[in-house]
Amino acid sequence: MTLKTLPETTTAQIDALCALAPVIPVLTFNSAAEALPIAEALVEGGLPVLEVTLRTEAALEAIQLLADKLPEARIGAGTIANPAQYQAACEAGASFIVTPGSTRELLETGIESPIPLLPGIQTISEMMEGLQRGYRRFKFFPASVAGGPAALKAYGGPFPDVRFCPTGGIRLETASDYLSLGNVMCVGGSWLTPAELIAQQNWAGIRDIARETVQRLQD
Ligand code: 3PG
Repeated sequence: MTLKTLPETTTAQIDALCALAPVIPVLTFNSAAEALPIAEALVEGGLPVLEVTLRTEAALEAIQLLADKLPEARIGAGTIANPAQYQAACEAGASFIVTPGSTRELLETGIESPIPLLPGIQTISEMMEGLQRGYRRFKFFPASVAGGPAALKAYGGPFPDVRFCPTGGIRLETASDYLSLGNVMCVGGSWLTPAELIAQQNWAGIRDIARETVQRLQD
């Protein structure tokens, strides 16, 4: 049986997206109202690619708002666990989709959708399932407990053409250990938006974390 595979153009779309910044902030919004000032601060700080997780009620409304109000940013949806959520995020205006793991249904949805998917994997076998369907770019999750930079270095031996966006447990102090690997495109993380700064509505503080991150991680 011949399986339908991912178009090459989707890999190019993911590459272009991941080349925009060394870090994709992973954002879980408590309300749509806080989404805009947080996203503006991150973009102003030099991080234009943002992943909004579908972990709260506010997520879809936030994606819609940000996609509308911040055309200079690329607003993606994360924690997408099934095709219905994939569809809802696309309808809200997400320009890319990130999943924590890879199910057959999600890989198939990504092949059919005009909105590109960065599927999550943890193991070589999961990656090989994705490769079989034409995926060559993956989120590596949860990176810090799945072997960290050493695992990705080892994955590069048998699979030199595969590239990753590791996420999960990464902080500014450890991000460069991943970014120095040839098979890492960028990293994802939630460290840029500490709950304390959000509670204080300290948007300038979030902008400064983004700025410091860009300064320390850019080549
Ligand atoms: C994710 O969804 O990718 C992670 O929850 C982000 O991980 P972190 O909170 O450890 O940065």
